[in-house]
Amino acid sequence: MTSVGIDAIEVRTGRLKLDLAETFAPEKGDDPAKYTKGLGLFASSFPDAYEDIVTMGANAAYSLMEREGLEPEDIGRIDVATESAFDNSKPVSTYIAGCLEEVYDGDFHHANKGERKFACIAGTQSLDDAVNWILAGRNRGRGALVVATDTALYARDSSGEATQGAGAVAMYITEDPDVVELSTEQGYGSADETDFLKPNQQFPSVDGKRSMQVYLARMREALEDFERAAGDTHPDDYAYIPFHTPFPGMVRKAAVLGYRHMIRGTEVEDELAADIGRQPRREDFDSREEFDDAISTYVDDLTETDAYREWYADTIEPTLSISSQVGNWYTGSVHIARVSALMHAAENDVDLAGQELLVASYGSGAQAEIHAETVQPGFVDEVAQLDVDDQIDDRYDITFEEYEQIHDRHNHEKSVELEPFTQPEGEFVFDGWGPMNERKYTFVE
Ligand code: CAA
Repeated sequence: MTSVGIDAIEVRTGRLKLDLAETFAPEKGDDPAKYTKGLGLFASSFPDAYEDIVTMGANAAYSLMEREGLEPEDIGRIDVATESAFDNSKPVSTYIAGCLEEVYDGDFHHANKGERKFACIAGTQSLDDAVNWILAGRNRGRGALVVATDTALYARDSSGEATQGAGAVAMYITEDPDVVELSTEQGYGSADETDFLKPNQQFPSVDGKRSMQVYLARMREALEDFERAAGDTHPDDYAYIPFHTPFPGMVRKAAVLGYRHMIRGTEVEDELAADIGRQPRREDFDSREEFDDAISTYVDDLTETDAYREWYADTIEPTLSISSQVGNWYTGSVHIARVSALMHAAENDVDLAGQELLVASYGSGAQAEIHAETVQPGFVDEVAQLDVDDQIDDRYDITFEEYEQIHDRHNHEKSVELEPFTQPEGEFVFDGWGPMNERKYTFVE
């Protein structure tokens, strides 16, 4: 079987930072701990006045191509995943290709381009499309460029405002990849849901509390479906489990349910039984309510055990470091969780090559997908070239008034001119509108 997966990854954060504890919470009359402890978020990234989904995606793709020494002729398709698109016909991938053609001699006329939409899971779907294209032998030796790019903005004064973010992830998908090989086994949990949607509107209609329940329900289905394809899972099988991370607190809830599922009927459940009993089984209860209460108690007790805490610290916590500083990047979110884990492994000399990741993606509306990935020996060199920590540190820290200005600047229903807070250098920037109401971009030296 051909080995196909991610050969290179590049990350691009929006260049502004909203400090949630110091700047946002006081204005909202919230305890800062709601953000740092409850949601697990310290800051959100925002796009400066000259940034948008195209510039962030194109800048990530350009860095990746420069680093890997790629030319347009090496790339046979460009798939962009986003839920922040500004055009119902012309895909963002054409804009990104147009940007890249400004700086390369070659062009992308030969490349198949598209745009994937299924809320946050579209990034993983685009990755799957690229892998399948290569496995089908249709790539003629070329790789695929997958870009997940979003400005996750919510309406002012809505509850989602706490979980905003902006950034892009570019991935190069090839045979014999340097970073991770994808498993062909996949599990899905998919249902017609109205937890979060944007019916031809920029800011989402969202039922926050229900969206969390739908996330957990679909994730559980996807894990069961993955096991039907790949066999039973066990917590020790995976070095890291990157989840879709709208905010780290969501992953905290998902991880304990996944752990409970994976240890059922194993030696781990037996060993824990002396302390917290065995997992409640449905057949032992007269009513659904009694069973649910018993499960809830078991889960609370499970989170307090050393076995769970150690597993969480080793397997989940390292996936959350970037997310806790940048907020929700929608389609890119699960991919920065993978990057966080790989960076953590490289920085701590973890012998990860050959070990497995379990990657758990989610998109509202709603669908979860789970697949495994095998880490490749080249991952250390790849992540060593990422400058994501510097990008995060270098963001301009906005005041609350500046936050209001930048939110308005990116509101499609307002027409706000705003001096940028940062100085663009060696990157693509938004440059106004053309005669067909198209957005225009230029490369600033
Ligand atoms: N100290 C410690 N913890 C505190 C605290 C304090 N002082 N104050 C509050 N908290 C805790 C709360 O207990 C809560 O944690 P639990 O859920 O574990 O109880 C957490 O902090 C958040 O507090 P609230 O529930 O009061 O926050 P909220 O009402 O503002 O809503 C939200 C949170 C529903 C996530 C909201 O931000 C939202 O609607 N976000 C957008 C939707 C979303 O991200 N949903 C996630 C699943 S859908 C998905 O994943 C797709 C996607 O990307 C959008």
